[in-house]
Amino acid sequence: MAVLQIATQPFADQRPGTSGLRKKVKVFQQPHYLENFVQSIFSAIPDRAGQTLILGGDGRFYNREAIQTILRMAAANGWGKVIVGRGGLFSTPAVSTVIRARSAHGGIILSASHNAGGPDHDFGIKYNTANGGPAPEKITDTIWAASKTIQGYQTLDSADVDIDQDGEFLLGDMRVEICDPVAEYVELMARIFDFDALRQLLQGPFRMRFDALHAITGPYAHEIFEKRLGAPAGTVVNGVPLTDFGGGHPDPNLVYARPLADHLFAEDASDFGAASDGDGDRNMILGRQFFVTPSDSLAVLAAHATAIPAYRQGLKGVARSMPTSQAADVVAEALGIAHYETPTGWKFFGNLLDAGKITFCGEESFGTGSDHIREKDGLWAVLAWLSVIAHTGQSVAEIVTRHWQRFGRHYYTRHDYEALPAETGEQIMQSITAQLPVLPGQTLAGRDIIMADDFTYTDPIDSSVSTHQGLRLLFADGARLIFRLSGTGTEGATLRIYHEYLEQDAQRQQQDPQRALSDLIRLGRDLTRMESLTGRKTPTVIT
Ligand code: G1P
Ligand code: ZN
Repeated sequence: MAVLQIATQPFADQRPGTSGLRKKVKVFQQPHYLENFVQSIFSAIPDRAGQTLILGGDGRFYNREAIQTILRMAAANGWGKVIVGRGGLFSTPAVSTVIRARSAHGGIILSASHNAGGPDHDFGIKYNTANGGPAPEKITDTIWAASKTIQGYQTLDSADVDIDQDGEFLLGDMRVEICDPVAEYVELMARIFDFDALRQLLQGPFRMRFDALHAITGPYAHEIFEKRLGAPAGTVVNGVPLTDFGGGHPDPNLVYARPLADHLFAEDASDFGAASDGDGDRNMILGRQFFVTPSDSLAVLAAHATAIPAYRQGLKGVARSMPTSQAADVVAEALGIAHYETPTGWKFFGNLLDAGKITFCGEESFGTGSDHIREKDGLWAVLAWLSVIAHTGQSVAEIVTRHWQRFGRHYYTRHDYEALPAETGEQIMQSITAQLPVLPGQTLAGRDIIMADDFTYTDPIDSSVSTHQGLRLLFADGARLIFRLSGTGTEGATLRIYHEYLEQDAQRQQQDPQRALSDLIRLGRDLTRMESLTGRKTPTVIT
């Protein structure tokens, strides 16, 4: 098999975003588009020769074709071995697990996370490093730089290989191993959690429903909940991964996981409901007639961590992304452990986890995880919640309301305005940025603003600095209002507005968040001049 050197021209739009390169499938299908980006990744890893790479994706449209392309290119680029999940499948948390378990040099994950899939929707590719986590900005910047000057790529003159049978074979000089994408991940979960206690819970009268939304977690959830923990068949719904996710958005929130939410709010609701996203790193947690905000979820899990065997010794610290509510900080202070505030995106937790500064971390965007891997982990969060339920014997609603009584309730909501014209998104951010210096000292939404800035983060471990990570207004009573442009959207700009305030009075903790936060919501809309600039009266998605 000959190594081919194929000449190409750079594409101007291959800048990796919050989680790798995410574009419409049609963009990826342009001749040389995927190849250029893969070569740019490989060029950013000069010490790859002879090393092991993990490869898999969430099974969305174009996954299988991309696997074949990447295998040929990996062989031509000197990798020693590629471990592929059978069928080209791997959840993001499983790739992180296997990178670490096999001491691989890195991994490539094919996914556009929670974005829709299919020929007219999204595809994505991202590189994870040897710690199992998303490549840090240093590397993604190198990839981007390489993509701007690329003149060609190397690939192998070879036919497609069989990725559907477990086993090992050679592709050129490179070994390829096709493995069960589920097994190593499930073993890790069995080491972290008390599967006997969870089995008792799930084999009793307790009922749960897990909605895999026809995305990657189906096979993992069937294995864990139904096979290993003995939950009745039918506990996992939409468990077969489909290339278009059955036409839905594999996004575990109240809008896109509506049937699950409807079930949990119905008369005959299960006790517990959960869903994950396209690639399995997100989670949504529901109780009977109860929605747990991801910010609260992190705080509750931190407060109950010692109920889980792997964390029985307590947590080293916790971290949350900047727009995530401050609920976890309050728990950390009560526990006497450190807490950190990082920019949006899981990659910023990597250094803190590697340095042993934190054990749990989370984001408001349905991301929760721990130091067991270097990605957020949807099924881990579900198992953690089941562990807390089994340990306390309380319902989800009881666990959370008691938490609020003890620590206060951080009312929280995020409003997304999707697919705005890109210039409008920039214009809104610039106009709020221009006002930042004059906001402190003003009283808006009935509150005194004490600080307003554009969030800059200095990594406490390697001192790297990340600027322009979101505009934040902090009020004297601890309330916050935050504005950011999404780094993962594929259509125009998505503006996210995050609203938060802390209610200590238990008598006032049962309001509807949209109502409780209505003055901050109005202020957010006013500051963006959303209606006059875009004609939009309401957000696309409210969480
Ligand atoms: C979104 C979320 C962010 C998360 C990222 C990847 O990014 O807001 O918390 O890390 O997806 O799952 P955004 O579109 O806001 O840049
Ligand atoms: Zn995801």
